[in-house]
Amino acid sequence: MRPSPLSSPHLNPNLLGLGLSATLAINERSQELIAQGRRIFKLGLGQSPFPVPPVVVEALRAAAPEKDYVHVRGLRSLRETVTEFLHRRHGIERQRRQVLVGPGSKELIFLTQLAYAGELLVPSPSWVSYAPQARIIGRRVTWLPTEREQRWKLSPDTVDAHCTASPGLPRLLILNYPGNPTGVSYTEEELAALAAVARRHQVLVISDEIYADLDHAGRTASIAHHYPEGTIVSTGLSKWCGAGGWRLGVFSFPEELEWLCAAMAVIATETFTSVSTPIQHAAIRAFQGGPEIEGYLAHCQRILGALGRQCHATLTAAGLLMPEPDGAFYLFPDFEPHRERLAARGVTTSAQLAEKLLDELGVAVLPGSAFGRPSRELTLRLSYVNFDGAAALAAAEGGTAIDAAFLRRHCPDTLEAMDRIAGWLQA
Ligand SMILES: Cc1ncc(COP(=O)(O)O)c(C=O)c1O
Repeated sequence: MRPSPLSSPHLNPNLLGLGLSATLAINERSQELIAQGRRIFKLGLGQSPFPVPPVVVEALRAAAPEKDYVHVRGLRSLRETVTEFLHRRHGIERQRRQVLVGPGSKELIFLTQLAYAGELLVPSPSWVSYAPQARIIGRRVTWLPTEREQRWKLSPDTVDAHCTASPGLPRLLILNYPGNPTGVSYTEEELAALAAVARRHQVLVISDEIYADLDHAGRTASIAHHYPEGTIVSTGLSKWCGAGGWRLGVFSFPEELEWLCAAMAVIATETFTSVSTPIQHAAIRAFQGGPEIEGYLAHCQRILGALGRQCHATLTAAGLLMPEPDGAFYLFPDFEPHRERLAARGVTTSAQLAEKLLDELGVAVLPGSAFGRPSRELTLRLSYVNFDGAAALAAAEGGTAIDAAFLRRHCPDTLEAMDRIAGWLQA
């Protein structure tokens, strides 16, 4: 008998085997355990702990009556403000104000993959959604190897070797720094070397700079400084502005890629039409900057930097291996030195390790396998954001020094989660 047209055999075959995004799944599992009364340390979801700056909330409130659909590429004033923001804060020059506003940068990355018929190149490890997006669309994905000893950074030689093996093909490289899941960034020299290879092979680059304003030392290196004509810069409100749920992302294109921006705008017209108009007005205020925003960012960066260093120190003392983060709020420890003892406890994969930490310690994390690492490598991603960001920010704004006492007072759960992992390894 033929299956009913309303039954699952008619699922798009590209979707077969794709589950709920790993980050969302761990959050749901944590919620279940919390509902059962368990104490859970939520180091799974990569969400900013800080509140949206009050001036931006105020701008949203004032814009609530704005009810009309607007231009598919986004409000003209927002596109101009984003271009100025990228120039002012990141030294990125664009000849024209070529910006596309979308409901989150995730959606814009998806639109790029839909519009550009090329192979996707992503370093391993990389953020969880790039590769599944390519699979949904039916694009080929190549994970480019990196090594922990090299701080998980992509080397230009790796890109060169891959492109030289079959030259002349269209390719899209997504480079994310500070990176999810490692927290690691690149220097201008490293980006210049990657840019030279990308230019030689005419590789389209999305520079995913969603965490760029959360670099702990305020660094602003960008591959767009070295390969402007082939680089799309991606940012948004989700991380630096603490507004992930507002769903606003932006892409800045070079003049040479107007054709791609136009194609993506066509898809946008036929799908989401335009991003919520009040949110766009609030985004203008956010990207305008000024002392409130600069002060807010400086405090967020300092708190995350101090906490990242502290967590790194605790886990390193427990024998785990990982680079110290440069930005964002992630650590990517490798439990390799404990492999034998973990095997004795029945743990031989990163997924088992993540499950064990949740069940035995109440610590929710993500396995390295969700980020493209081999399943038997014992890496995990920890988001050190399990604290009251509003209280920590208020204390920092009030002039409290951000030292060990500050972290103990304002980020106790995050520190306890690290201590629990360290203690568990010693047991
Ligand atoms: C590396 C990276 N890129 C992009 C995104 C998507 O951000 P949004 O769609 O909220 O702009 C995230 C969110 O977690 C991320 O970690």
